[in-house]
Amino acid sequence: MRLINTKDYNDLSRKVANVIASQVVLKPNSVLGLATGSSPIGAYEQLVNDYKNGNVDFSGITTVNLDEYCGLDGTNDQSYRYFMNDNLFNHVNVDVNKTFVPNGLAADLDSEGANYDELIASLGGIDLQLLGIGHNGHIGFNEPADFFEKATHRVELDTKTREANARFFESLEAVPTSAITMGMQSIMLAKAVMIIASGKEKSEIMKKALYGPITPRVPASILQLHPNLIVVTCDIF
Ligand code: GLP
Repeated sequence: MRLINTKDYNDLSRKVANVIASQVVLKPNSVLGLATGSSPIGAYEQLVNDYKNGNVDFSGITTVNLDEYCGLDGTNDQSYRYFMNDNLFNHVNVDVNKTFVPNGLAADLDSEGANYDELIASLGGIDLQLLGIGHNGHIGFNEPADFFEKATHRVELDTKTREANARFFESLEAVPTSAITMGMQSIMLAKAVMIIASGKEKSEIMKKALYGPITPRVPASILQLHPNLIVVTCDIF
């Protein structure tokens, strides 16, 4: 594990963007696993600047996102597809046909999950997977559970998760109750994983995830077993 402690959120965002940009410079046809939530927003902004300054070319990459709410289509401004378009894809030269987000509107979510896993495998897996962390230790939407779920699957969202994400919606009731998320296999098979966290309120869960027992009760703890884990933090330690 490589631990990069940064001095503030801007510093964190710049360093995270630098790692992603380096990945793309070194391998222009990289498969990037991307995440939503507030944590990566600054890094995406930085990547947009890098693109505008001519420092990085996204034309060859493919992206696969971690998760999506069930019941929201891509035009809904709370959907993760909308988030990715709005924060990154619309502002850089990525081929939008090579940006993938699980379809939370699929009639058969089991098939959607299986297809998503097949897609990732057919791309040769993920080169670099970016992750945030939920207050309960979730990664993607892999909530605390009795076992680690391997495949992309539908998940009932934890009350804590819905409460934490309610800040983006009009009310708690408006937060979807379920989601579809990449499972642990695609995440753990990524050649590199970068998890980011900032702020005192993520401190306890990050310590549990990185230094506590490996347990599906703290889903991010499985990352301790990843051979190429990059942790970028500010205000955590
Ligand atoms: C959501 C996403 C996660 C993300 C988490 C943390 O629940 N599904 O992928 O890591 O939020 O979000 P934030 O970075 O806003 O704390």
